[in-house]
Amino acid sequence: MEQKTKKNGFASGIGFILAAAGSAVGLGNLWGFPYKTSANGGAAFVLVYIICVILIGSVAMISEIFIGKRAQANTVTSYKKVKKGMGWLGLVVIAVPTLIVCYYVVLGGWTLRFAANSFQAIPEAGNALSFGAFTSHAVEPVFYTIIFVLLAAIIIMAGVKDGIEKSSKILMPALFLILVGIVIFCLCLGGGVERGLEFYLKPDFAELGFDGVVAAMGQAFFSLSLGMGTMMAYGSYTGKEIKVGKSALMICLFDTLVAFLAGLAMFPAIGALAPEALGAGAQGPGLIYQILPQVFAAMGPVGEVISFAFFAMVVIAALTSVISIMEVSVQFIIQKFKTNRKKTTLIVATVCTLVSIPIAWSVGGAFDGAITIFGFDLLTFLDEIANTVLMPLGAFGACFGVGWFIDKKLTANPMNTLRTLESEDLKLGKFGKIFAIMVKYVTPLLIIFVEISGVVGKISSEGAHYWWVIGFALGIIALLIVTYFTFFHKKDCGTNADEEALSVKNE
Ligand code: PHE
Repeated sequence: MEQKTKKNGFASGIGFILAAAGSAVGLGNLWGFPYKTSANGGAAFVLVYIICVILIGSVAMISEIFIGKRAQANTVTSYKKVKKGMGWLGLVVIAVPTLIVCYYVVLGGWTLRFAANSFQAIPEAGNALSFGAFTSHAVEPVFYTIIFVLLAAIIIMAGVKDGIEKSSKILMPALFLILVGIVIFCLCLGGGVERGLEFYLKPDFAELGFDGVVAAMGQAFFSLSLGMGTMMAYGSYTGKEIKVGKSALMICLFDTLVAFLAGLAMFPAIGALAPEALGAGAQGPGLIYQILPQVFAAMGPVGEVISFAFFAMVVIAALTSVISIMEVSVQFIIQKFKTNRKKTTLIVATVCTLVSIPIAWSVGGAFDGAITIFGFDLLTFLDEIANTVLMPLGAFGACFGVGWFIDKKLTANPMNTLRTLESEDLKLGKFGKIFAIMVKYVTPLLIIFVEISGVVGKISSEGAHYWWVIGFALGIIALLIVTYFTFFHKKDCGTNADEEALSVKNE
């Protein structure tokens, strides 16, 4: 009954699942998945994606939640409790995502703008025309980004139970209902719907190719929010009421379903109302901000409502994801430096806003596209760091930690590990054996394989300047490792109980 008296953890299992699903369901589902699927062999991509979720994603998800739940603390302390020398990884998964969230909030700001714009579409051209002008404007995108960050901050300030959990319990069902409603509406648009479906899903393994397989794996990491500390942080706020395995599988399933449905909400409508757009443009980032507004405009007056519902749904998805990333650093700062949640959130939100301003200018091409880094716009640069270096590293660390260090005897036999895991509340039932083998051998090896092929592929497609991405990422990681061993390794880095004590004191 210890859980009942807790002030700042999740109050219920379903609250945790919805919040974690809120983290997972984001722009990756509603934007990335549909266009990547149509660009990489349709159903063939979906199939490989599902295999990646099963073999890699679900195992890493269980590992992250398990590590957090077991430690009941921020990611640094959580990793320290797996093995003391792993604490640095806890710092890496706090600092790098905090940088990365800065581009995510810019995209979130764009979605806010498109939602707000739904009811003032220019009749003959739709909202589409305003895209270039809006994103390259020096002030407007920044303004919407700030509003977006503020929305996230307000929820985080209210705490895990009263902010994150409560909002997820309303927002996630709302998101799902809107999505299902739009899917049904779009599938009933009549002629052209099949063409759109074919464009989205027609299986083509030749088009998938090896690059498509690597893209599917990267997409799975991103979409499931792996390797960024979020699942660990949320997991730490759960207690006995949670079955780690079952919850993780539900989150994976929900995330995949939403991603798949997102495509069903878009391509049939494009097929029916703007079939000429079913080309390379729809297979890239222009899909939701450029092509869909044209489609909504072609729907007539009802298009305004659909546009608003759609972009409101994307705002919800992006918001709950941003909240989870920011929470990782907020949790650590509160617990390590014994600060108060409101002030900490404000500091993190301010830093995030400041960093996001040059990113907004860079990606929108303000100032004639002058803001770049090593030849990349800032968004692409940070995104590449996340996808190619950080997420695989974080997910590998979580699996490797659970597979090899939880069982102190360090034997190669997965069944010994399983015994220790079960004694620590894994509760995976008959899947326990499979999980133990996966987490010890299969998944870490697969991640290494993906990582190497991903880097090799990127360098051959992007050219040698891609080394800047890798070098920069490794540089930051090295810096964080030094910081960790200088300031945090020997010190107590706090736990959720410390946070609890603080919040009681502050009342
Ligand atoms: N999973 C989110 C998406 O699909 C992105 C995200 C990544 C959120 C990592 C939190 C942590 O858009």
